[in-house]
Amino acid sequence: MTLILGIETSCDETAAAVVADGVRMLSNVVASQIDLHAQYGGVFPEVASRAHVEAIYPVVEQALADANVTLDELDAVAVTRGPGLAGSLLVGVNFAKGLALGRGLPLVGVNHLEGHVYSLWLTEREVPIRFPVVCLIVSGGHSEIVRIADHGDYTLLGRTIDDAAGEAFDKVARLLGLPYPGGPAIQRVAEQGDPTAYNFPRALRGEGYNFSFSGLKTAVLRAVQPPHHGKRQPKRERMSADQLRADVNIADVAASFQAAVVDVLVEKTVRAAREHGANEIWIAGGVSANGPLRAAMTAAADVTVRYPPLKLCADNAAMIAAAGYFRFVRGERAALDMDVRPNWPLVARAGATA
Ligand code: KG4
Ligand code: ZN
Repeated sequence: MTLILGIETSCDETAAAVVADGVRMLSNVVASQIDLHAQYGGVFPEVASRAHVEAIYPVVEQALADANVTLDELDAVAVTRGPGLAGSLLVGVNFAKGLALGRGLPLVGVNHLEGHVYSLWLTEREVPIRFPVVCLIVSGGHSEIVRIADHGDYTLLGRTIDDAAGEAFDKVARLLGLPYPGGPAIQRVAEQGDPTAYNFPRALRGEGYNFSFSGLKTAVLRAVQPPHHGKRQPKRERMSADQLRADVNIADVAASFQAAVVDVLVEKTVRAAREHGANEIWIAGGVSANGPLRAAMTAAADVTVRYPPLKLCADNAAMIAAAGYFRFVRGERAALDMDVRPNWPLVARAGATA
């Protein structure tokens, strides 16, 4: 049995986990900072780094205790090296380096997006995984369609040319006066709304595999903004619930917005899977928690669709340990002076793996 300790601090969750053989989760501890950042309506980088510093030690201790594993029993430490906030990444990477140095443990650097992909390896399944897979990775910072031919063998098929899908959810939630993070809030409110009430734009639908969500966000803004007179226009960031048009039905806007996002994500992913001979479609990243997205993908696909259980959709360290395991068994070892890579792409250029 190979035991990997995973550490994740790329954004606003301090997380540690122990995973056996890349697929069996022995513990998964996540200290969320959502309450700290909600007052800012988004992640405040300086606050995030400081909170990571405070949480990292107890979170790692808890992960080892929950797994009933001692440091001596570990085979390696895997840590998120990027992409993410530089200051936040540094906390996890420095902690992992210290542990590796102090205990003589091998160190593995993991790409955060690859981590999201490997949340699928921690997901229960009746049918074994069959490559090639087409994976839709949708988080707060990224939206990509990737073809996975085998472990570590990625080809980028498409990506967003402006906002990420999760970012669109967060921004539209703000426009509607809904709390951060916006994705779960919009999904909840949308349940009471009519997804056909507004015909919001589906940018680039049917064309290639790239996404664009900024036009959709602007269309939502126009739908909810009161007509203004004179020069002073309310700033988008300052829109609050009581500045919305009086006759606007928030639930209808939320449902119509969500339908537009889901429609484009599903159409492109299903077409990519068909055109690139995929045996399976995966959905990963924070937005993969979205119920209507999961349902629509499953309904539209002609191959197996998999997505992680809810607790593995959001940022966690079990997925980092799982991804780290598969790098570790390929013989990969990071140097003890490994740096952080805040802009590290999962796929460097078409066909090549970072
Ligand atoms: O992967 P993640 O936890 O962090 C990043 O790596 O960015 O993704 C967070 C994003 C946020 O934008 C959040 O609004 C979105 O995932 N999200 C959702 C849902 N739950 C979280 N978006 C839509 N529907 C949801 N249920
Ligand atoms: Zn993430």
